[in-house]
Amino acid sequence: MYTDSHCHMTCDELYDPLDEVLAHMSEVSSCMIMCTTEEEFLRALHIKKSDPRFKVAFGWFPGDARDIDEEKMQLIENYLKQGLIDVLGEIGLDYYWDKSFNDVQQTLFIRQIELANTYHVPISIHMREATKDCLDILRAHARTKIIFHCFSGSPETMQECLKLNSLISFAGPITFKNARHGPDCVKACPLDRMLSETDSPYLTPVPYRGKRNEPGYVRYVEEKIAQIKDLELEQVCRQIENNFLSLFSN
Ligand code: NI
Repeated sequence: MYTDSHCHMTCDELYDPLDEVLAHMSEVSSCMIMCTTEEEFLRALHIKKSDPRFKVAFGWFPGDARDIDEEKMQLIENYLKQGLIDVLGEIGLDYYWDKSFNDVQQTLFIRQIELANTYHVPISIHMREATKDCLDILRAHARTKIIFHCFSGSPETMQECLKLNSLISFAGPITFKNARHGPDCVKACPLDRMLSETDSPYLTPVPYRGKRNEPGYVRYVEEKIAQIKDLELEQVCRQIENNFLSLFSN
């Protein structure tokens, strides 16, 4: 049974054909739905209510930092207070698209980490072209469990991340022919410190690369991990699911 620790199942592209997406994930036993808007979050709560395989993450994405006002911060805090958010995320820093508001991203990132500390929930980190600032902020502020989602850094960066007692999550790009650091990182990452994810609808793994991604395709990520680490698929899947569930036990 497979674990998709990060998918955007309630974004419009996957929510519209939800029955079909669910039908394709009968072998997925644990799944976390990432929400970047309140609409996506309410949809995810609805799915979780009738299906215990699901966890729900909600947080303000770094790229949206300029639009996050006090009212929106309050919204997140209210849901945290009610215990409805399993993981705060994805939060972090993304300097790839636009470097003009790095400071706004950093302020939002720190505020959300502090909220996670207050309400004792793990955080899911989006880090793109911002490794140093991101790790500096995490070292200084993070007090709960950390997931580095869709890890794409170098093996050296991964070691720095592991020092933060984090889990490293691998996605479809490790299956690509031109995968840069991915396979080396998979090889170097201890099995009890890794997760698998799709980040669907993005980053579709081989053999469906180029098509819309969905949670059911996480099997191709876990198969690739087993192949790279030269381990039984069953052992890989079992340990990854244990790693995922450990985020929610104290
Ligand atoms: Ni994502």
